Amino acid sequence: MTVYAAYFSPTGGTEKVVKALMEGFGGSYETIDFLTLGTKPWSRTFRPEDFVVAAIPVYGGRVPVTAARHIANMTGSGAKAVAVAVFGNRAIDDALLELRNLLSAAGFDVRAGVAAVAEHSIFRMYATGRPDAEDIQDLHAFADSIKASLDQPGTLQVPGNYPYKPKRPSANQPRADDSCIACMICAEECPEQAIDPEDVQNVNPEKCIACLHCVSVCPVKARNVNQEVIAERAPKLQETFGPRKPNTLFLPH
Ligand SMILES: Cc1cc2nc3c(=O)[nH]c(=O)nc-3n(C[C@H](O)[C@H](O)[C@H](O)COP(=O)(O)O)c2cc1C
Ligand code: SF4
Ligand code: SF4
Repeated sequence: MTVYAAYFSPTGGTEKVVKALMEGFGGSYETIDFLTLGTKPWSRTFRPEDFVVAAIPVYGGRVPVTAARHIANMTGSGAKAVAVAVFGNRAIDDALLELRNLLSAAGFDVRAGVAAVAEHSIFRMYATGRPDAEDIQDLHAFADSIKASLDQPGTLQVPGNYPYKPKRPSANQPRADDSCIACMICAEECPEQAIDPEDVQNVNPEKCIACLHCVSVCPVKARNVNQEVIAERAPKLQETFGPRKPNTLFLPH
């Protein structure tokens, strides 16, 4: 049996959640990083005895297209899987249901669902510093419960509605300012190849998924979303994004 952590984590929050879960499971595992795979043609066939933890950040209550594309390139062959939706303390909406369905359609036997909180990658004043020590404890405990229930019969129900929420294009895609040193790191690392390598100011709005990976990797902090928009919107979100939301584990009944 090989254990895999397959995830998409443009700004590192999903990866922190995955690492805590994998610590809880114990033992070694192989990483499949959807961000690095980007738009590369790729496929992977798993064996029935494998175990896969598949994790995504929630975008507008949905699974990011990059992750959905890579999951569709996986052949589960009946391997057991855990679906993990990481959200920025607003809501998961339909993302965990969509992830479970994508994994089932790829041939995985989805044995558990996890909704976990990480710092909001756009509104960084919300869920700041999460997953924190309390979250890590939750995630370790979730791993224990999942291990203990892996061979239990039953169907996994997770929250969400189908048809899923419609996808909305982001109105606040990152741009570079005058301090850009034209190093091209952002263009090389963009998982959707949305940044023109000849001119990093030129971003294809149809391709950009507003994942903010380019903001994270810019060595001179020249890239960002429009901070005036953030400052204007953030206070209005306090009621919804502010109160601490729990991490939740879903097991088959
Ligand atoms: C485009 C976009 C849409 C988002 N939509 C939601 C959302 O619907 N609900 C929510 O709670 N958080 C939302 N977030 C926050 C992320 O889900 C959260 O910060 C996640 O931990 C980011 O993962 P990463 O650090 O691995 O990139 C959104 C973030 C981005 C960039
Ligand atoms: S250009 Fe868009 S898709 Fe590409 S890394 Fe930046 S935010 Fe993500
Ligand atoms: S990573 Fe930053 S400095 Fe480098 S090209 Fe992109 S915006 Fe410019």
